[in-house]
Amino acid sequence: MKFTTLLTTGLMVLTAQADSFPWERLDKNDSLLIVVDLQVGLFHTVRDWDPTVYKQNMLAHAAIGQVFNLPTILTTSAETGPNGPLPQEILDMHPTAPLIQRQGEVNAWDNPEFREAVRAANKSQIIIAGIVTDVCTAFLARSLRAEGYSVWANLEASGTVTKEIRDLANDQLTRAGVNVVSLFAIVCDLMRDWRHTPGAVQLQPWLDRWMPAYGMISRAHRAAVVNGTHVPGQEFLP
Ligand SMILES: *[C@@H]1O[C@H](CO)[C@@H](O)[C@H](O)[C@H]1NC(C)=O
Ligand SMILES: *[C@@H]1O[C@H](CO)[C@@H](O)[C@H](O)[C@H]1NC(C)=O
Ligand SMILES: *[C@@H]1O[C@H](CO)[C@@H](O)[C@H](O)[C@H]1NC(C)=O
Repeated sequence: MKFTTLLTTGLMVLTAQADSFPWERLDKNDSLLIVVDLQVGLFHTVRDWDPTVYKQNMLAHAAIGQVFNLPTILTTSAETGPNGPLPQEILDMHPTAPLIQRQGEVNAWDNPEFREAVRAANKSQIIIAGIVTDVCTAFLARSLRAEGYSVWANLEASGTVTKEIRDLANDQLTRAGVNVVSLFAIVCDLMRDWRHTPGAVQLQPWLDRWMPAYGMISRAHRAAVVNGTHVPGQEFLP
């Protein structure tokens, strides 16, 4: 095949892929948050994140529901067995959320009570994270896609045994039309504009708690405005 033909074919494939999953924006009025098996026992299978970071990411996922007041569903598998309960912090954030305790179903969608809870929420956009990425997150995400839901997988709040397994799972999800995105991408898309409510007033403290990389920017800025002075040499900077 000639180079130009190859190039044209490649572009056509790219265009077709782009068209099959047009960009869809998260709308906080139409979103449901799901916490899938982020259980204390399963936490130990997560080796693709540093445990300190991952604990923060997992709790941050649950905290998205709080700050945006999203309907939230919690689910666990075999929680009286080896997988254990959800962290108390997550339960405390969502005291009135349905907690579907699956006794055997690996894919949460196979549980009738879970399906009923998702349908009852009547939302078309679903934000999920689970342990492990390649099973609990991936199976549910693909079932939700098959049912016609739009799905956002919080990349940072799912964990699994190795980085190779994670990357493969996220690649498969991306090709299945799941939006595999960061915590910050989810939060900014839900907020859309710092002047909204929730907006800067609610999100600055939230980000300071759950995304210190951004929180520290704000702290540094505040400190500079309130107590800062230029040090010699700074006046020469562009
Ligand atoms: C959500 O609902 C509010 C109130 O009805 C509306 O003002 C807003 O445009 C809706 N969509 C988003 C993305 O906020
Ligand atoms: C589900 O949501 C749609 C779109 O927001 C709304 O028109 C409909 O009334 C809702 N159905 C129920 C049963 O709440
Ligand atoms: C920062 O500025 C505030 C207000 O002028 C003042 O009360 C406070 O003592 C200052 N803090 C430091 C660490 O200089």
